Amino acid sequence: MLIRSAPDLRDCDVTDRGLYLRRREFIYGAGALAAAGTLGLSAAEAAPLKVAKKTNLAGDEKPTSLKNITSYNNFYEFGTGKEDPAANAGSFKTRPWTVVVDGECMKPMRFSIDDLTKRYPLEERIYRMRCVEAWSMVIPWVGFPLASLLNDVQPTAKAKFVTFETLNDPKQMPGQRDRTLDWPYREGLRIDEATNPLTLLAVGMYGETMPNQNGAPIRLVTPWKYGFKSAKSIVHIRLQERQPATSWNLANAHEYGFYSNVNPEVDHPRWSQASERRIGEFFRRKTLPFNGYADQVASLYRGMDLQKNF
Ligand code: MTE
Repeated sequence: MLIRSAPDLRDCDVTDRGLYLRRREFIYGAGALAAAGTLGLSAAEAAPLKVAKKTNLAGDEKPTSLKNITSYNNFYEFGTGKEDPAANAGSFKTRPWTVVVDGECMKPMRFSIDDLTKRYPLEERIYRMRCVEAWSMVIPWVGFPLASLLNDVQPTAKAKFVTFETLNDPKQMPGQRDRTLDWPYREGLRIDEATNPLTLLAVGMYGETMPNQNGAPIRLVTPWKYGFKSAKSIVHIRLQERQPATSWNLANAHEYGFYSNVNPEVDHPRWSQASERRIGEFFRRKTLPFNGYADQVASLYRGMDLQKNF
């Protein structure tokens, strides 16, 4: 990633969730949608989501405040600074929104975002999120397993990988007018990673629809991998035989591998990955292999050299 000197958040910058939501109610109640835009919010984001099941996969670690999750972001389509996505994504249009699922499958499908949230029961999953830049958060996502969707399109025997593509719309996404990355943003998983029960398509967080700056209306979440694997604002999911070319790997293959599993033993060429700064906390934490999800995913990589396949 391009490392910028974005100011670190301090505890005094953190608003508790209750106060934050009351502020949102005040903004919408007053009809001041223009003001909401400057906060990176939009009316659609405030909708509550019905959650059928809740699972905490972050132990006793406290979820990061909604304020921090929505004001310290990487979403280069809206700028490379940590505060740019919240400042620039307020008017991003996430409805109507279509997600196409095709490629090596028997039943290619197109879904509207509402089709998806009606078709698949939504769950809350509290996961750790570790960025390759050595900061982390704990996020209560709302979404559904990617495996459910892939099962419905019936992958063929040739489907070895899955690609995820973000919307390409430089009119709405000012960052796409610069050649920072080869747009649209693309990421990929091996099919067994994509169908692992931990892999989510997330449509919200903290019980409500996804804030624009976090990848509305739908994004990927793979909690054992560095955050950049989790493509935001997805419009296309493709099953394919060959390993896909992915945005950060294309930008710098030496620094960003295809697998990018969280691994405290493999340093980034420019910094250590042994510890991390949890946003909202003062002391650094030790980084855990597979971000603490080794029991669920280490078997996917049995026999692989994880120094080479970083
Ligand atoms: N997806 C798109 N389309 N564009 C991006 O710039 N950044 C990635 C990932 N997904 C990115 C993206 C990176 S580097 C990280 S760490 C996470 O999104 C950050 O997610 P968050 O801002 O919701 O914490």
